[in-house]
Amino acid sequence: MELQGKRIAITGAFGALGQAMVRSALDAGALVAAIDRAPTAPAGIDGASAIGGVDLADADAARGAIDAAAHAIGGLNGLVNIAGTFRWETLADGSLDTWDLLYRINLRTALATSKAAITHLRAAGGGRIVNIGAGAASKAGAGMGAYAASKAGVARLTEALAEELKDDSITVNAVLPSIIDTAANRADMPKADFSRWVQPAQLAAVIVFLLSDRASAVTGALLPVSGRV
Ligand SMILES: NC(=O)c1ccc[n+]([C@@H]2O[C@H](COP(=O)([O-])OP(=O)(O)OC[C@H]3O[C@@H](n4cnc5c(N)ncnc54)[C@H](OP(=O)(O)O)[C@@H]3O)[C@@H](O)[C@H]2O)c1
Repeated sequence: MELQGKRIAITGAFGALGQAMVRSALDAGALVAAIDRAPTAPAGIDGASAIGGVDLADADAARGAIDAAAHAIGGLNGLVNIAGTFRWETLADGSLDTWDLLYRINLRTALATSKAAITHLRAAGGGRIVNIGAGAASKAGAGMGAYAASKAGVARLTEALAEELKDDSITVNAVLPSIIDTAANRADMPKADFSRWVQPAQLAAVIVFLLSDRASAVTGALLPVSGRV
């Protein structure tokens, strides 16, 4: 199994992609700590150590959650930063607060958990950080400014941290999904052809590879995972 015995913390783990990621990591043999803001873990992630009720944009709370994750699963070999959110809003009709919100939820959470995880990954002799960016961040469409800016920030965080941690044998990569086939997206876009979207399990499979020993030479990569979108 690709992640046999690896200790992996996953944020946003109670959400759509998060639950799929937890299941894929468990299936690959990992020990998993599942961190999220909701207080109660969904039934779908049985087998993971659940750490709920954490606002990961708060640096102290993020450090506490990462330390608790490492304690629960006996150390850390990897961190997957999935916590995030989306807003579509034009500049003319929208609010400046939306830009702060998306920066906070999409970038600051990944920043705070990554910073907190470095000590644990170094203690393990190396490791993996995988972030979730977005294909939409490379060129923002109408109404996508705040989201694209926050996810462009995730891309730059990924690149900078990859360079900083190269000599610690810690790789830092990001996947860039297009549209993930989630219940929320189906409800928002009922007329779309769902078969073109990326399945959560397909995205999780790519992340499992990036977490594995086979990906030890890949760092600073921003990898589009776009299905047929
Ligand atoms: N869905 C897509 O089509 C798509 C496309 C490209 C990229 N992405 C990215 O992929 C990731 C997962 O998307 P998804 O569709 O699975 O979203 P989701 O179902 O909304 O899951 C995100 C999870 O992150 C949690 N979270 C949000 N803010 C948090 C915070 N401050 N501290 C701790 N946990 C927090 C959410 O909790 P709450 O429910 O309490 O908010 C939720 O459980 C996100 O980063 C998203 O931006 C998604």
